[in-house]
Amino acid sequence: PGFWAVIPAAGVGSRMRADRPKQYLPLAGRTVLEHTLDIFFRHPRISGVVLVISADDGWFGDLDIRTDKPLWVVDGGAERCHSVLNGLKALMTHADPRDWVLVHDAARPCLSDGDLDQLLDTLRDDPVGGILATPVRDTKKRAGPDGRISATVDRGAMWRAFTPQMFRLAALEAALERALAEGFLVTDEASAMEHAGQAPLLVEGSARNIKITQPEDLSLAEFYLSRR
Ligand code: C5P
Repeated sequence: PGFWAVIPAAGVGSRMRADRPKQYLPLAGRTVLEHTLDIFFRHPRISGVVLVISADDGWFGDLDIRTDKPLWVVDGGAERCHSVLNGLKALMTHADPRDWVLVHDAARPCLSDGDLDQLLDTLRDDPVGGILATPVRDTKKRAGPDGRISATVDRGAMWRAFTPQMFRLAALEAALERALAEGFLVTDEASAMEHAGQAPLLVEGSARNIKITQPEDLSLAEFYLSRR
């Protein structure tokens, strides 16, 4: 089966307090989105990319996009899960339903080739699929309504969920459709698969695969990219 990437990049990034969505902010001489796209354009095992951008996106046209792979650009939706679903539906018209799809946040430009290879190698014969993740290192507290600690959560079994999240195209599309139809809160692709009764595999990756969320994350990302 083939491997495809779906990149949701239709968010507005309000937490960045910037004049443009975070995927269009400058990072090490390019934009965040150009770095992210390049990871998949360069990777020999990725067949093509679906990029999901906002219907009123005013920035994508100014980027310098060069690739010899198929690139389809489609409109996003109200929330990340709707954007991803639009991307999957577009991919269904080009790819085999049993192909693998890797959903990766545009806002994670520091994904390494090594982690991407690790994900592909670990999951290529897996019946379900899985996600890049790292074990939780800090002690976790549950907050009570008064802002005081109501419990200390056992971190031993806790992981931070990253992307890419890799599943079979038709299976993921069906799981997302079902979760949304049933009003289930879909925060990532794995949560939709879990709702459908599947148990995605946790594949340990680097904690450097950060999601750009706040202004200071850009300096950190620039540092990580410079150390590659
Ligand atoms: O806002 P957050 O950091 O969770 O967004 C994660 C990714 O999902 C970003 O790359 C963002 O552009 C994308 N997104 C989207 N459609 C939305 C909201 C977010 O494609 N409606």
